[in-house]
Amino acid sequence: MGFIMKWLVRFVSSSAGKKQLMAVTGLGFCLFLATHLVGNLTLYGGRDFFLSYIEHLHGLGYLITAAEFGLVFFALVHIATGLVLFFENRAARPVSYAVKKNAGGQTIGSATSPYTGLLILLFLLIHLLTFRFVDKTSITDFEILTQKLTQTWWVLFYIAGVVVVAIHVSHGFWSGFQTLGLNNPKYMPLIRRFGIIFSVVIGVGFVSIPVFVFLVA
Ligand code: HEM
Repeated sequence: MGFIMKWLVRFVSSSAGKKQLMAVTGLGFCLFLATHLVGNLTLYGGRDFFLSYIEHLHGLGYLITAAEFGLVFFALVHIATGLVLFFENRAARPVSYAVKKNAGGQTIGSATSPYTGLLILLFLLIHLLTFRFVDKTSITDFEILTQKLTQTWWVLFYIAGVVVVAIHVSHGFWSGFQTLGLNNPKYMPLIRRFGIIFSVVIGVGFVSIPVFVFLVA
């Protein structure tokens, strides 16, 4: 037991260990995002189709509760490690570069990821307060969704939130694979391209929903 604890403490306090925690939890979120998008796309099948999806989802019972606890745990680990890495990096480089170097792999996604991460947390809190932690005894998810997404401000809020998520993921996806060393140099360009495609699909897919509801519903 003592050995495992010692290993764990050393793992978490090493920079490489923290990056691996970021990678595993981040790629876990990518998996969640993909399933959440596929689920939400049932909206295109109409009210009944969407509600039957939600019903099936909740019918999974304990599995869903377990997945929710998993998501919260992943979020806590991802955010805590991200913050520590952010401050460690800043302490190691007190003066910011006069010229942003692109050669070092710096992209819009990587340079902004601490900030887009924080914005996503804010988006998520509002999203969960309006969709998850709501008394649904007299209102369905479909009505909540159509009530919100027929208002201009909510539509703009969702579009902005999803664009920020896509930018964050465009860096995170690739970076996660790189950290885990799953990318053989031969496949690196392929994984990078797949990461970009993944973030575009997530972005366009999620943006399409508020736009569709606003214009059609
Ligand atoms: C157009 C965009 C989106 C729509 C229409 C949407 C819709 C929904 C709905 C209807 C629920 C409640 C499902 C239920 O009753 O079980 C939900 C839950 C949730 N959404 Fe979204 N969502 C969107 C974007 C996002 C994004 C971008 C994220 C992540 C960054 C996200 C994260 C979550 C989470 C974590 C939950 C709670 C899941 C649970 O507790 O089981 N959503 N969303």
